[in-house]
Amino acid sequence: MRLERELSDLAEAAIEKALDVDDASALLRPTQDRKHGDYQINGCMALAKKLKKPPRELATAVAEVLAGEAAIEKAEVAGPGFINLTLEPTWLTGRLQADLKSARLGVPSVRAKRTVIDYSSPNIAKQMHVGHLRSTVIGDAIARILRFVGHDVIADNHLGDWGTQYGLLIVGMNEWGDESALDEKPLDELERVYKLASARAKEDEAFADAARQELAKLQAGDETNRAMWKRFVAATRATLDVMYARLDVHFDEWLGESAYHDMLPGVVDELLDRGIARIDDGAVCVFFHDQDDPAGVIPKKLRKSEAPLIVRKRDGAYLYGTTDIATVKYRKESMNADASLYVVDQRQAQHFSQVFATARLLGIEMEFEHIGFGTILGDDGTPLRTRDGSPIRLKSLLDEAEAGARAKIEEGRQSGRLRIADEDLDEAVATIGIGAVKYADLAQNRATDYTFDFEKMISFSGDAAPYLQYQYARCRSIFRKAEVDFDGFAERPVAEHELERELAQQLARFGDVVHRAADTYLPHVICEHLFRLAQAFSRFYTECPVIDKESGVSEPRLALVALTARQLKTGLGLLGIGTLERM
Ligand code: ARG
Repeated sequence: MRLERELSDLAEAAIEKALDVDDASALLRPTQDRKHGDYQINGCMALAKKLKKPPRELATAVAEVLAGEAAIEKAEVAGPGFINLTLEPTWLTGRLQADLKSARLGVPSVRAKRTVIDYSSPNIAKQMHVGHLRSTVIGDAIARILRFVGHDVIADNHLGDWGTQYGLLIVGMNEWGDESALDEKPLDELERVYKLASARAKEDEAFADAARQELAKLQAGDETNRAMWKRFVAATRATLDVMYARLDVHFDEWLGESAYHDMLPGVVDELLDRGIARIDDGAVCVFFHDQDDPAGVIPKKLRKSEAPLIVRKRDGAYLYGTTDIATVKYRKESMNADASLYVVDQRQAQHFSQVFATARLLGIEMEFEHIGFGTILGDDGTPLRTRDGSPIRLKSLLDEAEAGARAKIEEGRQSGRLRIADEDLDEAVATIGIGAVKYADLAQNRATDYTFDFEKMISFSGDAAPYLQYQYARCRSIFRKAEVDFDGFAERPVAEHELERELAQQLARFGDVVHRAADTYLPHVICEHLFRLAQAFSRFYTECPVIDKESGVSEPRLALVALTARQLKTGLGLLGIGTLERM
């Protein structure tokens, strides 16, 4: 169900009926404190000014209408003119039962939009570093969430596989390349050679020139260079595949920058022909401050800046932005996309603002969104790095997380708190270790920087994946103890005891939460829900016996356990995090 939306509609209808107004807004929100009921309506205050009547008087009239609704147990006027709503428990449990019976847990779907999500998108011939973690994990979660609500999602890995670095790599490999190293540890070898080549190019003009020539040859289709480049791509791809498999991250398309190469001259010509770009000091640039913009597609901030989007350099080279314009055209014209989303570091905000504005100037109608994110910081408040100052490899981060998970699991097994069988150990280590890394990242509002905290990440008791996974396994173990089949169990839950009510109320929010995450591209709202749910479940379970020595199994309480388990599993699944049936 989408309870908040339903209640909001109900409240708006009540306001319109009681006060004889049109288009009322209820301004409904969950109460902070359950003492004040479940939801609060603030809409009467705004209307009081308009209708020139005391807000409490208006609220009283609206509350009277609401009190007659089947969903509402109590509607009480409070403070200067709020209405506090308490849900009718049997109405609520009937709705929860319907959620439990539904394969989608009662989450309604939306009208599908064909949505391309561009995420991960690392530059090839390099190892993946922690910097790539956020785009990969956040992008994957958003792809899963959007698919779940019903969108037609195309996950696209826009690899940085086409640029000046390949000229350097080609001359570098010719000069210093070690064939057997390239076979055995291709990325290490490519990184080694790249470092040498880029250092040399800085002090040796002839070398830099040779690199530019090799790049031009590559781009013109020279066979030898093309074969070398393909080898770089294949080597990177093999390494990436291992990493993505470990992370359980998948793409529908791998349309890297190279895929758009042939489109670039046409893009530049079109921009020039249509007067959107002009030549400035030999370079082709789109300026925004003095652009003709009758449709008003240039955001104010961009209009104020003098910085152009350069689409062709003086030497004829195309740039990152040129490719992005071509990509937008392709997504519109060939993929028929309604939306193009980019999960990329916040520091590229200006680039995307320029690309979107240029696309709009070209008349491309699509929804564009730069889904930006902040930086992962170390203890000292600067971007997370190894002790010697180099970026941390994603692989070592994941290895470390798994080692941490293994140690914690061993500890838990020794103390008897965790019951993971030997044969399940490796799967548990991966599920818990990788899940911990993902959750730690997703639980933050993506727009902010966050400090990497290893201990918190791997916690079985705080706001962390292992805790949620543990609560899920606990639910499953209750079913085993009760000797009731979990799949297909769909009794009606109960919401009489205060802690049953608290849990039921939390369970009722799932549909709203998933839709909010989908609308705002903010996975952390799902994390918040799951953490509160797990806490409410824990409190309920300590006070309200599900299996009683004398009276046996309480099926209505078991139904609360079942829905909790389903939401935890589905919710973690939307974040790309796995669960274990036994822990
Ligand atoms: N390869 C780029 C980088 O590593 C990210 C690409 C993002 N996607 C895009 N369409 N620009 O910074």
